Amino acid sequence: MLIEAGTNALGAAIRQVQAEIDSLFDALLPVPDDTSARLVEAMRYAAIGGGKRVRPLLVVSTAGLFGVARDPALRAGAAVEAIHVYSLIHDDLPCMDNDDLRHGKPTLHKVYDEATAVLAGDALHALAFEILADAETSADPFTRVELISTLGSASGMNGMAGGQMMDMVADEEGISYDLHAITRLQQLKTGALLGASVEMGAILGKVPPQARTHLRAYARDIGLAFQIADDLLDVEGDVDKAGKALRKDQEQGKQTFVTLMGVDKAREQARALVDQAIGHLAPYGPEADILRALARFIVERDR
Ligand code: IPE
Ligand code: IPE
Ligand code: MG
Ligand code: MG
Ligand code: MG
Repeated sequence: MLIEAGTNALGAAIRQVQAEIDSLFDALLPVPDDTSARLVEAMRYAAIGGGKRVRPLLVVSTAGLFGVARDPALRAGAAVEAIHVYSLIHDDLPCMDNDDLRHGKPTLHKVYDEATAVLAGDALHALAFEILADAETSADPFTRVELISTLGSASGMNGMAGGQMMDMVADEEGISYDLHAITRLQQLKTGALLGASVEMGAILGKVPPQARTHLRAYARDIGLAFQIADDLLDVEGDVDKAGKALRKDQEQGKQTFVTLMGVDKAREQARALVDQAIGHLAPYGPEADILRALARFIVERDR
């Protein structure tokens, strides 16, 4: 899914990270010469040539603020992306959202089977932490542990998996969430991994936690805006551009900002969050322009 953002700096940055992450996954996922080959082929099917790579771009752009070298930042970006890709494989399974299309091609369980899709998700989950535990990501063991702990928290019960549970429970049990609960659901389901991406860039840059306040505030706002944009796309988007099935959230009983407040108010909310996010970058100069442009892209995107 190449971004057609044309000649602008963000478009170029996205295309560069897409190519770099593809070649990193290609190197990290050699197909073995035995009957486990199917697992690695399935991992490659989901992980290579796929999405927008917003999370890796957040990692490398944040790390870039602090002069971190490109390769370690890309490795940390690939770790977050491995978690993201695994979450999408499982999210598309019949027992979850039951989707047939992802990144403009059939979902993994359609091409392979459900068992392979579960295992490919499991193995990508593990791969994320293998990447972070490797000295190639950082020579400093304290930095590696902090990266691992940050991504672990964002992926588990207090992050993506917890949010997915809240999302599924609403689906299945007809629970009605108020604005506060939907905000929490979305912050866990989507915001946590986006927040971890920014945090990991700062960790690689050896920024102490107390100096990460502005970046965390930026990440929180774009995290929420990102899922609102996804929910707006579900209602208004074009399937050919999005590369996934749309118009499903309402029918599946999903509870989102859009179902709660309608399209116009949800868009207003997303744009306000982006303005707020960009405001949090005030301490930075032009070196943070990609992070500013990425915040705008997150709400105005068509895929
Ligand atoms: C889709 O994420 C799922 C959500 C968390 C909203 P992305 O829109 O980042 O998916 P890809 O990887 O670019 O396809
Ligand atoms: C999924 O949200 C978020 C994840 C943690 C994978 P959605 O279910 O809305 O994502 P899409 O619309 O299928 O990409
Ligand atoms: Mg879902
Ligand atoms: Mg889904
Ligand atoms: Mg969606």
